[in-house]
Amino acid sequence: MLDSRGPLCRPDGPARLVVLVSGSGSNLQALLDASLDPAWGAEVVAVGADRCGTGGAARAGAAGVATFCCSVGDFSTRAEWDVVFTEQVAAYEPDLVVAAGFLKLVGDRFLDRFGGRYLNTHNALLPAFPGMHGPRDALAYGVKVSGATLFVVDHGVDTGAVIAQVPVPVLDDDDEDRLTERIKVAERQQLVDQVGRMVREGWTVAGRKVTIP
Ligand code: GRF
Repeated sequence: MLDSRGPLCRPDGPARLVVLVSGSGSNLQALLDASLDPAWGAEVVAVGADRCGTGGAARAGAAGVATFCCSVGDFSTRAEWDVVFTEQVAAYEPDLVVAAGFLKLVGDRFLDRFGGRYLNTHNALLPAFPGMHGPRDALAYGVKVSGATLFVVDHGVDTGAVIAQVPVPVLDDDDEDRLTERIKVAERQQLVDQVGRMVREGWTVAGRKVTIP
């Protein structure tokens, strides 16, 4: 488990973000849009993907942001992928790494390098409904409120320390697509707001407690 990350982390000047994507990249787009305002406090310096040619990479290209793609399938072991992927991210010297719809679990090398500053956003209120199908599982359970969780990634699946959560009501006529899309609206806003707060004000991670002063 990741432990205390010591003193306040606060980048000097605009923070450098590397964003990781696997799919359409609407969360990435929200970060790219936010970065157009210097007062937000961060710039997206690169976008990494585990699948080549996705919508996320196209959004990065349209914004003039560097991209790289590193597929697990191109390596004989997951550990080898983890080493190379870590180096690719590290080459951009990020202050924060943000998984925004990134569907691969990183390994020890990556977490040794970026632990405490590697964030993920999940489309459910953790610890409920971790994994790939948050909205589907929330609907199947019959909860009346779901939402999105921003957290600091640890070695587990959606088990890291929570930075922020936003509730989204589940409506009687929701299906998976409608709930997913409504959660994503709230999720994108939360991501932009909280990443902005973190880079402007700093943050600490002590055990499971994340503090933004
Ligand atoms: C987000 O809702 C995230 O929580 C989930 O996948 C979605 C990614 O959407 N893991 P997008 O690619 O950012 O549009």
